[in-house]
Amino acid sequence: MLSTNFNFKLPTEIEFGVGSLQKLSERITAFQASKVMVVTDPGIAKAGILEKITKVLEQAQLNYVVFDQVESDPSTKTIAGISDLAKQEGVDLLVAVGGGSSIDAAKGTRVLLANGRKLLDYAGLNKVKNKGIPLIAIPTTAGTGSEVTIFAVLSELDQDLKFTIGSPYLAPDLALLDPELTLLLPPTMTAATGLDALTHAIEAFTSLANQPICDVLALEAIRIIYKYLPQATTNGSNLEARTEMLKAQLLAGAAFNNTNLGLSHAIASPLGGHFHIPHGVANAIMLSYVMKFNVPAAPEKYARVAEAMGVILCGKDIYEDAYEAPKAVAKLVELCGLPSKLRDAGATEEKLDDVARDALKSGMLKFNVRKASEKQIREILQDAF
Ligand SMILES: [Fe+2]
Repeated sequence: MLSTNFNFKLPTEIEFGVGSLQKLSERITAFQASKVMVVTDPGIAKAGILEKITKVLEQAQLNYVVFDQVESDPSTKTIAGISDLAKQEGVDLLVAVGGGSSIDAAKGTRVLLANGRKLLDYAGLNKVKNKGIPLIAIPTTAGTGSEVTIFAVLSELDQDLKFTIGSPYLAPDLALLDPELTLLLPPTMTAATGLDALTHAIEAFTSLANQPICDVLALEAIRIIYKYLPQATTNGSNLEARTEMLKAQLLAGAAFNNTNLGLSHAIASPLGGHFHIPHGVANAIMLSYVMKFNVPAAPEKYARVAEAMGVILCGKDIYEDAYEAPKAVAKLVELCGLPSKLRDAGATEEKLDDVARDALKSGMLKFNVRKASEKQIREILQDAF
């Protein structure tokens, strides 16, 4: 018998809207923080976004220090450095500004400050004991959804290893989402992060741990992303498209925070580890192939995904309707100018066996709607190569 029981968590408060950055200082004051640390990456500093943040802090005469050297796929070494600086400066509130990397680095810093030891000790679910100082997340991509999730993806460089820490103590206290901060995101980044968000929504909706609240969030995210991602990619200054994309990735983040993800993410992680393919690009390439593999296990669900993307279903054959979904995803990838094959993204065929073997170790596989063996994953990779 199918269970109708479910649990939905969203520990993070959300402040969304054009101009909402102006609320940052009053929100910091409400946390009674005496010294703030802004955690961000060099691109955000270069794009002038960091200056917008520090201007708000200065106008409110708040004490702050900046760390602006977060790299993509933040390493435990970098986070140890941020944590040392935070201790030295007596920081009692973190403001993460940027994409998933900056937000995840701040989450890692919070864990380290309150728990000590090595971050790798907390890999997996619910191993973090103490919550630590408040964290405000301000995303500048649309996006990873990291501003509302309990997860951080970090890397241990000397072991060529990417690992995930999942704990409610990682969820930011406040997510402040201002679409104006995403206006300068370049087209390739817009497309890649948008396809990552679409993958979150589709994998949440089709997850074996799906549930009614997440279904609604995910389907709405799919509808919005399909309509607005090409507009946001081709005309970055379109504030309506940017606003819709930031909203959609938030909905997708809130959904997968509860349902977990699936096979596309299980494969994207080792694709990043072995070939340094950006996370969003890896998902953009893999998503349609994984969906084709999954269709026989849940044709009704994939037909609903196709419907959410605006496909008019034939209504005669559930499989025909379901296979419209991966076709529409492949079309979106093409419209957004991203590669559709792994070979065009820097992958090499001889390492695909290793990718398949590593993907099989992913904790996300148990949520994928169809069971996948190492051999089947290798076949999907060949298809996508
Ligand atoms: Fe993702």
